[in-house]
Amino acid sequence: MSDPGDIVESQPERAFQWELPTEADTLALGASLMEFLQPGMVIDLVGELGAGKTTLVRGLLRAAGVGGPVRSPTYTLVELYTVSRLSFHHFDFYRFSDPDEFLEAGLDEYFDGRAVCLLEWPERAGPHVPHADLTIVLEADPAGAGRRARLHAESAMGQQCLTALMGRGGPGPACQPPAGSCGPR
Ligand SMILES: Nc1ncnc2c1ncn2[C@@H]1O[C@H](COP(=O)(O)OP(=O)(O)O)[C@@H](O)[C@H]1O
Ligand SMILES: [Mg+2]
Repeated sequence: MSDPGDIVESQPERAFQWELPTEADTLALGASLMEFLQPGMVIDLVGELGAGKTTLVRGLLRAAGVGGPVRSPTYTLVELYTVSRLSFHHFDFYRFSDPDEFLEAGLDEYFDGRAVCLLEWPERAGPHVPHADLTIVLEADPAGAGRRARLHAESAMGQQCLTALMGRGGPGPACQPPAGSCGPR
């Protein structure tokens, strides 16, 4: 006879880490994420200059069907893309010396609950940016030339996205993580 005390509800994992040995792997992670985005999602991209934030956004937007260049909007602050199913607002707050510049530039209007918002340097806009659904931390791999990505679900929508990404077996074919490097952290 089963003992009800043995029933343990499985909690979805809230964070995963992947090794990204090459630029193609960063692009593939972005492309894979694209499959599971929902309108209005806010994604924070955290990492030093050169960590691969824009590369990941480029992979994501290419998968969405964006054909033109995808660069850090370091001077324009935001770039807008619309493709069939979704709109994307890609921000870069690197040049902010004061978080209030976010409000002075009227950027709060771009968080309209419909566009997917992709934020480079979100910490420089401080408390003014809406809470992220998903945070992606990119960092140099200390053991080589590649990068490492940690994805954290910060809301139910972020969790759905992360769970779906794991359900498909992680990022796309360009990412071939060595055994043990892909999984919950
Ligand atoms: N997984 C990776 N391995 C090695 N190089 C990468 C990887 N991902 C991105 N890069 C390279 O890192 C450089 C900086 O990337 P970029 O996306 O502009 O960084 P950021 O937006 O974080 O400043 C680019 O030359 C890109 O090709
Ligand atoms: Mg960038």
